[in-house]
Amino acid sequence: MKEGDIELINEIAQFEDSHDMQREYKIGWSWRHVRIWPATLSRLFKEGYLDNVFRSNSYTGYRLSELGRVLASAGPASNRTENEPSEKLEIPEDIFTDIIGHNDIKELLTACLLADKPVHVLLAGPPALAKTLFLWDIERIAGERAIWLVGSATSKAGLWDVVADRRPQIVLIDELDKMNAADTAALLSMMEGGRLVRAKRGRELNLSNQIRIVAASNRLDSLSPELKSRFAVRKLAAYSQSEYLTVVEGVLVRREGLGREIAGEIAHRLDGLSQDVRDAIRVARLTPHLGVDRAVNLLFGEVSGLGVTGRSGI
Ligand SMILES: Nc1ncnc2c1ncn2[C@@H]1O[C@H](COP(=O)(O)OP(=O)(O)OP(=O)(O)O)[C@@H](O)[C@H]1O
Ligand SMILES: [Mg+2]
Repeated sequence: MKEGDIELINEIAQFEDSHDMQREYKIGWSWRHVRIWPATLSRLFKEGYLDNVFRSNSYTGYRLSELGRVLASAGPASNRTENEPSEKLEIPEDIFTDIIGHNDIKELLTACLLADKPVHVLLAGPPALAKTLFLWDIERIAGERAIWLVGSATSKAGLWDVVADRRPQIVLIDELDKMNAADTAALLSMMEGGRLVRAKRGRELNLSNQIRIVAASNRLDSLSPELKSRFAVRKLAAYSQSEYLTVVEGVLVRREGLGREIAGEIAHRLDGLSQDVRDAIRVARLTPHLGVDRAVNLLFGEVSGLGVTGRSGI
């Protein structure tokens, strides 16, 4: 038996379990149905894991042998159609401590993570409002029980496969608006605790123990109504002037390691120039080399062909 054979046998078992063998595959299934190379199937047959039900010039029909069945039911991935009851997540008091403000969202997310049945949450709004930070904090406390997906990058393994393999309690999806159609379709079903069926291989997965989704997105208008309907959609508004000052000061002190005074100076200097916390972080990082004023000038001044306007002498 080669490495990976157990996996293949499990896949075949799942394929057989999700079809009516007597009706649909009376003469056995072929390599095309299970998407496993004929040579591999022939080897599994020789090793006794498959029975050869039918053979002609154009069709070789197989079925799992008794030995194959025993192996499938003993294998580690054999219980895949049943989700083990997972222990309840414990939420530490300080889960969101690195996020300044957003108290309602903190309370909502905590309640959703603790609820007996899933309430999915989508954080939507303009850039740099700590949406991704919320996902990070949840991932940090959930560890292995959470998986992290970025909408623009989910196509490689596929949402279905990732969930089938990792069996998470929580799925964190950043950039939900960029998720591809196949993953979005899987997500719609998953959010209702539905059955996930991947027609391609006939594999299916029963989500008896429902997954909860926390997602973030800049845009809402590109999401389908049925997707939005499955989420508690929390719209985050851009920071007000005073919120911006508080957040910037806090971020620069806590995350960028600046002193209170210089952090306050940068926050005030950007007042009216920007509402984006990332701008303040850029200024903070350039300040040791340039000083606050020069950093702000270079980042925000108009650039002409001769240099940055506003500099004395130009
Ligand atoms: N309320 C806040 N508390 C702490 N940090 C904040 C807060 N708001 C913004 N930030 C900081 O702003 C930066 C961007 O945050 P984050 O990546 O979470 O934004 P986002 O809302 O996901 O933005 P985008 O929509 O562009 O992905 C981070 O460095 C983060 O520390
Ligand atoms: Mg983000």
